[in-house]
Order: sequence, then structure tokens, then C-alpha cells
Amino acid sequence: MTDQPDIVPVTLGARSYDVVIGEGALDSALPAIRELCGARAVVITDSTIAGLHLDTLTLALDSAGIAIDPVIAPPGEDQKSFSGLEALVDALTHAGVERGDTIIAFGGGVIGDLTGFAASVYMRGIRFIQIPTTLLSQVDSSVGGKTAINTKAGKNLAGSFHQPSLVVADTRFLATLAVGELRAGYAEIVKAALIGDAVMFGRLEALGARVLDPDHIASAIADAVRFKAAVVAEDEREAGRRALLNLGHTFAHAFEAEACGGVRHGEAVALGLALAFDWSAQEGRCPGPDADRVRAHLAAVGLPTRVRDLAGGPYDAALLAERMRHDKKNAGGSITLILAKGIGNAYIEPSIEASRLADFLEDQIA
Ligand code: GLY
Repeated sequence: MTDQPDIVPVTLGARSYDVVIGEGALDSALPAIRELCGARAVVITDSTIAGLHLDTLTLALDSAGIAIDPVIAPPGEDQKSFSGLEALVDALTHAGVERGDTIIAFGGGVIGDLTGFAASVYMRGIRFIQIPTTLLSQVDSSVGGKTAINTKAGKNLAGSFHQPSLVVADTRFLATLAVGELRAGYAEIVKAALIGDAVMFGRLEALGARVLDPDHIASAIADAVRFKAAVVAEDEREAGRRALLNLGHTFAHAFEAEACGGVRHGEAVALGLALAFDWSAQEGRCPGPDADRVRAHLAAVGLPTRVRDLAGGPYDAALLAERMRHDKKNAGGSITLILAKGIGNAYIEPSIEASRLADFLEDQIA
């Protein structure tokens, strides 16, 4: 029997919305989708997701009296670009989307980020719904309102804050994901626990690799989304506490940039989490046994926790440190990292010297 989906509110005044999570979340959310879209919805997806899941979405929306008008982009990160944005805006115009309409992003993080950014600029802003189909997008990129495309100079360098009007994370769509994709998405779940919820980490740790089973994944997603929703509600524009959500990410972005696409974001985040805890322990900020527990749990789920385990190598410590020095979150010449005083107790450390970081990475690579 299917459990009732969880409904997690993101409380942002006039921009508040619900995240509906679980097996069958799409069916539960149909009345809300109908209210937002009316009898017709333009659905933006890619050809991979269209092949796998567009029939399911079409049937579900049809049962609620919503006809869909699909816009199908090619798959891949290349779509998160000015040319991908232009093509999408043209398609929305061609489909006759008007100012009062609500469009639907149906796919992973690329489709969600691109559609969200297009929705924020099309006719100076229209509403959009996120129906994420990957674990990474269900747990992280569909919630929070950051939208972006990449530029030649780097990832997510042109973007906006534009909150969705509804997020529907139906775990049935995860059934077609490769296990590597599931594991990679899971890194963002465990990240939430490591930042601010030691009890949640204990639950995940007790489940070990079983956390990815269909019986357990929906409640893990809901816990992580609940955590993120609270952080976003407190600091929507990342003036302070929201930066904690970058735990593991400054390391991860450096490895991803050096690997030139040869590594999954979530795998790099997993290694980044292990390294952030190692560095914290080495600096005497975090108990060593906490760093050991983090590494042991990530490894139990099958995620990389050592540089040698990460695809896309070999890596060079000086080049990685240089990448981290240029991270867009830094200010005033030194490196800002999210570190931890223990499991569930992350904090912002704004003044790390690049040379010390290079030495640390050298040791990690050796
Ligand atoms: N869209 C992802 C975020 O706002 O964090």
C-alpha cells in the first residue's frame, strides 16, 4: 500500500509553496497542479525523461483535466546555457505562454534550473512547478529558488532567485535511475544531516546502504527537504546561514572542474563532505571519531570518500587549491569553507589560507 505523501511547506510569505514527497505524490498533487495550470500546461523536459516518463505524466494530468503541451530539449548540461535559454524562451513564445500561465519543469537538475531561470525572465516572470525525476533534484535543486545557467566562465554564473509555486517529488520516478545516480543524489541528503541534524544522521547511519531502498528513501528525502526548507525560509538570499548548505561543495566544485565532466556532482560532494570533516578534525574543531563516522557511512552507501576513489583523476593539489581560491563564495582574498564542530553542527569559516589547503590536499592525494 502507498503511504500518504509528506507535505513540506517552504514558508516565504507571498512566495510560500509546498513540496509534496513520496510514492504517488503526483496523484496527490493533481488538484494543486490543476489550480495553478488550469486546463493546459506547457511541460519542459528532455528527450531522455520524455522517453521514460512523459506518458505517465500525460496520463496523470489528463485524469485531472489538464492537457499537456510538451517542449522537449536535448539532454545534458549544455542546455544550461544562453543558447538553451534562448531556445526555451522561443518555445514558450511559440506555445503562446502568457503572463498568468504556469509552466512545469519535468526532469533533473538541468531542466529544473533552466526552466526556473526561463520562468524568471519570460515576460518578466511567470510561475513554474518543479516535478523533479532524479534523487539529486528531488532532494536539492528543485527546492530553494536558485535558478541558473552556466556561462563560458563557469557554472551557474547567470541566474536569479525565483521560487517555484509547487514541487512534486514522486519517488516512483526514481525507479529508472542507475544506482550510481541514486547514490550521488543521496550525498545531498546526508549533507543536510551533517549540517544540522545529528539525530537524522543517526537514523541514516543505522540504515546504511538500505537507506536507498524504496521503503526508506521517501522519508530520507522528506527529512532533508524539511531541513533545507527551514534554512531557506530563514535566509532566502544567502546573506548568512544558507551558506551552510554549501558543506562539502567548495571541495566538490574544484574536483568537478578538474575532472571536466568526468565525475557526478553528488560523488564529488560526498568526497567534499569527508574532506570537510577531515580538515575540521585536523584543525581541532571536530572530534576525530565524528569524521570517521562520516567517512564510514558514506563508504557504506558506496560513495567515494578518498581522492583515489573519485573518477576523473589524477588530481593535482595545487590546481585544486587554486580552483577553491576562485570559488565565487569567497570574499576578501581568502577561502571560505563550511566546516563542522561535529556531526550536525556546521559553521562558516571565512579565512582559510590557500597554501595550507594545498598542503592538506597533497596529503589527501598521497
Ligand atoms: N534551486 C536550488 C536552491 O535554491 O538551492
